[in-house]
Amino acid sequence: MKLLPLITLCIPLTLSFHLVADTTNTTLKTQIQQCENCHSESAASQSIAPVLNGMSEQYLKDQMENFAQDKRRVAMEETPAINDAHTSLASDEESLSLVSEYYAELERRVSSVSVDGDASSGESLFEDDCASCHTSTFGRYLSDSPEITHLEGPYILKQMKAFSDGQRSFTNETKSHRKMVNRIQQYSDKELADIVAYIKANAHTL
Ligand code: HEC
Ligand code: HEC
Repeated sequence: MKLLPLITLCIPLTLSFHLVADTTNTTLKTQIQQCENCHSESAASQSIAPVLNGMSEQYLKDQMENFAQDKRRVAMEETPAINDAHTSLASDEESLSLVSEYYAELERRVSSVSVDGDASSGESLFEDDCASCHTSTFGRYLSDSPEITHLEGPYILKQMKAFSDGQRSFTNETKSHRKMVNRIQQYSDKELADIVAYIKANAHTL
């Protein structure tokens, strides 16, 4: 007998749960569609806006925070629409989690687009100064570094220059961030291009 009031209580609860889930789904789809306008493989703008598939949830969240805190200024100088898209997501914690989870579960896409550079000169520079943090799973875990080999060459080069001249920095700066920036600042433009040429020539094996 006591079950009846419980069951009647549960019906509206289940109904409202479905309603909430549906609304969240529609909002999520709309948000992802907005992201894909610039970030999809077919958007033809990956050299500035990389494909987000397979980036870790924490990395995605950290970058949205960096945009919101004005730590990544590259995009803002290009168009205010980019800034609006990023900062509005960053201010909505629930959507940020859902969108980040969505992208983290997709498979990474490896781009073969490179830059003009001498891959053989870039090899020792990359192996000495980048590989420890960016190539092995263990190194990435210890230094909290993202995978970079799948990104388009021009995007990688642009980000290295942004780290070097301070246009891209970090909301929560770590020792690894400082170490990377110090190393990148020691390279000439040619050496930076050589490193990227090496990464792209070996994108499937690094
Ligand atoms: C109007 C175009 C545009 C829209 C819309 C847009 N972005 Fe971006 N996004 C960019 C550009 C350009 C960059 C590269 C910025 C830079 O160079 O610092 C970027 C960078 C990023 C990065 C950093 C990637 C990395 O490898 O570090 C993340 C994460 C990101 N966007 C997530 C999103 C999400 C999630 C959405 C949807 C809510 C979104 N963006 C909507 C243009 C856009
Ligand atoms: C000590 C560890 C460390 C070293 C060494 C290092 N990095 Fe990084 N790198 C990081 C971390 C951590 C991040 C994440 C930055 C952030 O949180 O915004 C990063 C981010 C990047 C990004 C941005 C990726 C994206 O999706 O936008 C590029 C490109 C990059 N590194 C290239 C390099 C290159 C090239 C070298 C060698 C010259 C290098 N890094 C050396 C730790 C390192």
